[in-house]
Amino acid sequence: MIVRTMAALIDTLHQDHKNYAVLLNLLSAEADKLERGQEPDFVRMYDIANYMVSYPDTYHHPHEELIFDVLGALEPDCSEQVLELNNEHRQLAVTGQTLKAAVNGVINGAIIPMDRILENARAYIDLLWKHMDMEEGSIFPKAKNTLEDSEWQLINDKISQVEDPLFGDVVLTQYQKLYEGIIRNSDT
Ligand SMILES: [Fe+2]
Ligand SMILES: [Fe+2]
Repeated sequence: MIVRTMAALIDTLHQDHKNYAVLLNLLSAEADKLERGQEPDFVRMYDIANYMVSYPDTYHHPHEELIFDVLGALEPDCSEQVLELNNEHRQLAVTGQTLKAAVNGVINGAIIPMDRILENARAYIDLLWKHMDMEEGSIFPKAKNTLEDSEWQLINDKISQVEDPLFGDVVLTQYQKLYEGIIRNSDT
């Protein structure tokens, strides 16, 4: 995530959410195939889970937590929501890692019940949608209204300036296939 100005941080997080929505739609399409008893694209499912536990869990969520913690301290009314969102970050990481491991197992020939993978994928999708809705609909607007420039500056100083490996200027080799799938999907 490359952030050059204070206000740009929320805009970058918002753009991240749009990117994750694309991935959730792709993952949902694979879950639908599973539900119909069809063979899903397990490699695509793995790539999505792998990306989600790598970039968002390492950068997007911790960056949000820097904002949430300042907001929670300034606005006690928000502290319950902040706690919930922070807990959901842990839950998303665990659910994402479980999905990644299960799909990786299938790819490598392990016998894993398909309904478990379906349940896992649906749980991840539902949780991230709910989570992003609360951020976009409630906490981001409150942060924008509450935090002063000096607070944004302090947060900004702690941000890791890392380029997104899938949606950034350079697509990492390991995400190339997923990236092509995203582009193909957006053409249809
Ligand atoms: Fe979040
Ligand atoms: Fe988020």
